[in-house]
This record gives sequence, C-alpha cells and structure tokens, in this order.
Amino acid sequence: MRASGHDVDRFNRWAATYDRHYLQRLILEPVQKTLLEVAVSEKRDARAILDVGCGTGRLLRSAEGLFAGARLEGVDAAPEMVKEAQAMLSAGSGITFRVARAERLPFPDAQFDLVFSTMTFHHWADQRAGIAEIARVLRFEGWWLLADFMASGVMRYVRRLFRLRRFPERRGLDPMLAAAGLRVLGQRRVPGVGSQVPVLVIGRGAMKGVVR
Ligand SMILES: C[S@@+](CC[C@H](N)C(=O)[O-])C[C@H]1O[C@@H](n2cnc3c(N)ncnc32)[C@H](O)[C@@H]1O
Repeated sequence: MRASGHDVDRFNRWAATYDRHYLQRLILEPVQKTLLEVAVSEKRDARAILDVGCGTGRLLRSAEGLFAGARLEGVDAAPEMVKEAQAMLSAGSGITFRVARAERLPFPDAQFDLVFSTMTFHHWADQRAGIAEIARVLRFEGWWLLADFMASGVMRYVRRLFRLRRFPERRGLDPMLAAAGLRVLGQRRVPGVGSQVPVLVIGRGAMKGVVR
C-alpha cells in the first residue's frame, strides 16, 4: 500500500499539463460531474467542503457556483498542483488551496459537511491514516464522497494477479472504514466509466435514503 513520495514527484512534474491530459475527458470529468450531482442533490445545505487530493482544483471551482457562500478548502500533497490550483482562481473566489497530505490534515476536528476525494485515494501512502483524518475532520452527519478505482467482478482477479494493492476492493475498504467509525452508505455509478470507478457515499450512518 505504500506509494506517495514517488507519486507526488510525478504529480509535481505533471502539474502544468495535467488539465490537458486525455484522461480528463475519459475519467476525471465524468467522475467529478457525478460526485457533484450527488453532493448537490443530497447535501445542498453544506456550509463547509474539503477536497483532499484536489490536484489543480477544478472540482472545487465547479463546486463554488453550486454551494454559494460555503467555505471551500482544497489540499494536495504536490506543491506544483497546489500552485496551479491557486493560479487558476478567479478574482473574488473564496477557495483556499494549500499543501497537505491526507494523512495529516491541517484542520481542527469536526469542521466539514462534505469531504471530496477523486482519483487520489490509491496514491495515499497510508490509506488507514488518511481515512482516520477524514473521519476526524468530518462533522457527525458529514459525508465523505470517495471516487476511485474499486476492483469488482473479474477485475478483482486482475488486481490480485498484478499485485495492484493500492486500488482497494470493497471488502478491503470496509474494515478500514469501520476502524474509523465510518461505512459506505450508498454509491452512484459514473455514466460512461463503468462500475470500476463508483462514487461512494461514506458516513456514520445517519442517512435517510440510499444514494444509487
Ligand atoms: C490523479 S490526481 C487527482 C486530482 C484531482 N482530485 C482530480 O480529480 O483531478 C491525484 C492527486 O492526489 C495527490 N496525492 C497523492 N498522494 C496524496 C496524499 N497522501 N495526500 C494528498 N494528496 C495526495 C497527487 O499529488 C495528485 O494531485
């Protein structure tokens, strides 16, 4: 499960051209769109939102128009990604971007109604520590919306064969969440991307319906 130093170097080098990569249209844009649809339809009243592993910050820039007046914070382990995110902020934007790792979030307890993480979890050096930090900064009824490769069906065997341990399987993720007092409350498929990259709704269980 170890990763990060090497991955973060790669993202520092990639930062300037990251938004023009073909994977943006194929995966990242549909994933972010679906995640925001879930956030808006289920937690429109969110007053504080954190994006962990925010990259160049596009998700929060889109969120700013949807959650008017909310506090919006983004953190990323790669300083060059954060620089790009800051450079793209429009005048008058209230979003704050800073360098920090998921494993050590620079916020007091119980601050956020929503935490977003898109396609970053499999890069974290210590996923358990990252999950514990997210549980710590979430308000009691807050949700973590997590989108990442989640091996299912035949891909579980591919994952094991190629030792792709950083990509979680649901049955590996669930105990890590439980250790932090969290669980999966629902999930939404990302149209065009398939079942291997769901948006998971994670929280402490106080949810009226199940997101599908
Ligand atoms: C594939 S990019 C995804 C960026 C963004 N969430 C998006 O949807 O475009 C993965 C990001 O995770 C960041 N990252 C890797 N390890 C991290 C960690 N431990 N804590 C926070 N961010 C991390 C990388 O620097 C990179 O910007």
